[in-house]
Parts: sequence; C-alpha cells; structure tokens
Amino acid sequence: MTIRPYRDSDFHGVLQTWESSMTLDVPSPADFRRRVLLDRNRCPQSLIVAEADGRVAGFLLALVPRHPIDKTGLPPDRGFITAFGVRPDYRRRGMGTAMLERAEAFFRESNRGEIAVAPYPPNYFIPGVDPTRYREALAFLTKRGFAPYLEAIAMDAAIGQFEISPDLLKREADLLADGIAISPLPDNRLAAFLEFMEAVMPGDWGESARTLLTAPPPADGHWPNLLVAAREERIIGYCQFDGEHFGPFGIAEPYQGRGIGTVLLARTLLQMRRRGHHAAYVLWTGERAAKGVYGRLGFRISRRFALMKKPLA
Ligand SMILES: CC(C)(COP(=O)(O)OP(=O)(O)OC[C@H]1O[C@@H](n2cnc3c(N)ncnc32)[C@H](O)[C@@H]1OP(=O)(O)O)[C@@H](O)C(=O)NCCC(=O)NCCS
Repeated sequence: MTIRPYRDSDFHGVLQTWESSMTLDVPSPADFRRRVLLDRNRCPQSLIVAEADGRVAGFLLALVPRHPIDKTGLPPDRGFITAFGVRPDYRRRGMGTAMLERAEAFFRESNRGEIAVAPYPPNYFIPGVDPTRYREALAFLTKRGFAPYLEAIAMDAAIGQFEISPDLLKREADLLADGIAISPLPDNRLAAFLEFMEAVMPGDWGESARTLLTAPPPADGHWPNLLVAAREERIIGYCQFDGEHFGPFGIAEPYQGRGIGTVLLARTLLQMRRRGHHAAYVLWTGERAAKGVYGRLGFRISRRFALMKKPLA
C-alpha cells in the first residue's frame, strides 16, 4: 500500500473508489472537476490517494481554507475532511487510518487546531456523516477520536404534482396588498439584490448566488432559478435552486414569521416543477425549519447527518 498525493491519471480510479464507498453521494465527473480539482483551497496535499495492487483503493479529501469568505473571513484554525472512502475489498487493513494520519499531519503543518467532518463552507458534499448509510465511517472516526457536535437534517419532496394551495394563494394576495411581491429576480434589480446579500445574508450564501447569476438571464430579463421577495424597492428575501437542489433560502430577520418564506418556497417549488423537476431536496436544515416551513409544503426527512470534530493536539 502506498499513500500519496493525487495525480491526473487517478481521475477514474478516485471516482470509482468514491462510487464504491460513499455510494449515495457520488459527484459526476464534471462535479468532481469543478468541486474538487478546481476548488481554490485545494493544494497537492489535499487529495490523498491510497494505491494497492497498482490501482486506487482509497481516497481522502482534506481542505484548509486559504481564501476568505465574504464577511465571515477564514475559519480561524479549522481543517475539513469532506469525503473519504476505501474500496470494500480493501477495508479493515489500516488504509483508512493511514490516509487519515497523512491528513492529520497536513492539518498540523497548516496550524489547524481542529478537524471537522464535513461542513466545509464553500463546497461540502454532505454536512456530516450519515450514521445509517455510513455506519463504518462513524465507527472509524469515533475510534480515531472524532465526536459528533451538531446534527443536520436533509429533506425531500415529490413535486411532480405540486400546486400552491388556496390558503397560500390567499396569503400571497394579502402580502401583495401590503406591498410585498415575489418573483424571479429581474435583471434590473441585480445591484439591489447584491446589496441585500451583502447587508443581510451570511457570506458564503453571497458566493453561491453570484455563481448562479454569472449565467446571463434569459431573453425575458429574469433569472428563472433565483426568486426574490421585495417590499417596494427593498429586497427582503430570496430562494435559489440548482437542478433539484434548492437553497440557500432566507428572509431578512424583521420580516420573518409572516409567512413570506412559505410563499417564497411554494413559488420556487412551482417554478422547479415547471422547469421539469419532479423532486426537490435540501441537504442541510434544522429541526425547527423541518417541522415548520418545509413540513407544511410536503417535505419529509430523508437523512440525518452527524457533524463530527476532533481537536488536534
Ligand atoms: C470508513 C472507511 C474509510 C474505513 O476504512 P478502513 O481502511 O476499513 O479503516 P481501517 O482499516 O483503518 O480501520 C481503523 C479502525 O476503524 C474502526 N472501524 C473501521 N471500520 C469499521 C467497521 N465496519 N465496524 C467497526 N469499526 C470499524 C475499527 O476500530 C478499525 O480498527 P480495527 O480494524 O483494528 O478494528 C471505510 O469503511 C469506508 O470506505 N466506508 C464507506 C465510505 C464512507 O462512509 N465515507 C465517509 C462519508 S462521510
């Protein structure tokens, strides 16, 4: 067994290993390129490969944030492990341990005081370990000194027949009477939207929105996959989606608790269905939102994730 940094010739081997280990969370080759190889925090020590019998048998992705996120800056001394796996026929031979030791040495050299699995702000695949699907990883990390510190909930909804209920249409009309309207973001409100994001929403959400808005709006002058709630000239909330994955999704604090989020989400789901999607999911939410806004719109809890961390001595 050799533990070494990734090389270009490992591309398919790493993807196959990923497919045979993190079976529910496999990136497409394009996603692997975009979200792993092109990640601007990745350096040669980040993508660790275990080679055995002339092929890739294990991989581990370890990231040290080097580029500050708007407003939030750099997580002070945290390193992140976002994905790892060993092919089933090579397990329980110390391969996972050897890759993790290599990652821990890299984190120490990079002055990290703590390692977290897997809530890496710009590019997480899943927020943490799914204790049902990745039971072995939970046992492995626990053995290596990691402990759970937070739970994230993923939810799914079938939206093939989604329609906005009469109650919600009434609430939407009431909001409109109060001057609050929901629509896809028009091109002529782009600057106002970015100012709203800068002033009110967490830093890494602004980056997700900018990535999506880099594509020019279609001929009608609206971005179909980013909806905003606006009170007259002021933007007060938004929700974006990318394929079946929706979010981030947020309402400015003074406007929370008035049903704006529920109407905004319902309009987003309708927009997703009209664009051909039959399902919608959110990967990271909490118990309160799960019972509230998502539960009311037909979302069910599909997975739970244990965010885990370990201090580095
Ligand atoms: C987690 C994983 C990478 C471990 O790889 P591995 O090479 O088998 O790990 P090691 O051989 O180094 O195991 C080290 C220790 O972890 C613990 N461990 C590992 N697998 C275990 C299992 N299935 N049950 C109980 N303990 C386990 C044991 O204490 C083991 O030591 P031991 O074999 O001396 O008892 C591997 O099981 C895997 O690929 N799982 C699926 C992928 C995955 O879930 N990724 C994480 C998503 S967040």
